[in-house]
Amino acid sequence: MVKTLIYAHRGASKLAPENTMPAFELAYNAGADGIETDVQLTKDQVPVLLHDENLRRTTNGTGFVQDYTYKELKKLDAGSWFASKFSDTSIVTLEAFLRWFQTKSMKLNLELKNNVIDYKDLEKHVYDLLVSYGQLSNTVISSFNSESITRFKRIDSSIQLAFLTSQKTRNLPAYAEKIGANNLHIKYRLLNKRLVKQCHRRDMPIRIYTVNRPIQMRKCMRTACDGIFTDVPHLALEYRDVVPSD
Ligand code: G3P
Ligand code: MG
Repeated sequence: MVKTLIYAHRGASKLAPENTMPAFELAYNAGADGIETDVQLTKDQVPVLLHDENLRRTTNGTGFVQDYTYKELKKLDAGSWFASKFSDTSIVTLEAFLRWFQTKSMKLNLELKNNVIDYKDLEKHVYDLLVSYGQLSNTVISSFNSESITRFKRIDSSIQLAFLTSQKTRNLPAYAEKIGANNLHIKYRLLNKRLVKQCHRRDMPIRIYTVNRPIQMRKCMRTACDGIFTDVPHLALEYRDVVPSD
């Protein structure tokens, strides 16, 4: 039976500001199997962890990540929007995150946020950092941008690549394979038993986002999904490891 792995979505993002070190620390302390985080690129080509292309929602800045150097972005407050006790939290680089992460035995999903702005060479910057920190074999790269998946596949054909989608498409696993992906990450509403079986027949892990409710966790676990992305890893772990399955 497949053990459904629990990835903290943007870290433990229900308890701390998403994609920041406090959220990642909480995920680690909760015992999450993995972390999912989103990657954008600064003006000076530094990969940083942020969900939106725009700074407005999760920092006290304005405008686009791509228009600032990391030195400029570092000064922003990336925590107060969530709660005042996080006011000294700043945007983290992928490199600083990997420095912390490399000593933890967790899995990693780096979601390249290049479906709105297709950052030039993002794949190569991310790849080089994963190599430097010895995290290639531990990481699944994902993107909604199918061209980016194909580009990544050309850099290294042995890496784990996930096509990410919220769209109902005929024969998704075949499409994913065609663009060079060997994993599939889907929105919860697309989940059905048949799709999981189709993936597994191809040896293609399937993971589901964003799974926050016990009834959804139950469906993912029962249909033998390989992983879920959840804002509440502590609850998902309790649900998986403590609630007896019938
Ligand atoms: O990687 C899964 C999930 O994070 C994709 O959607 O918008 O939460 O980044 P989003
Ligand atoms: Mg994401």
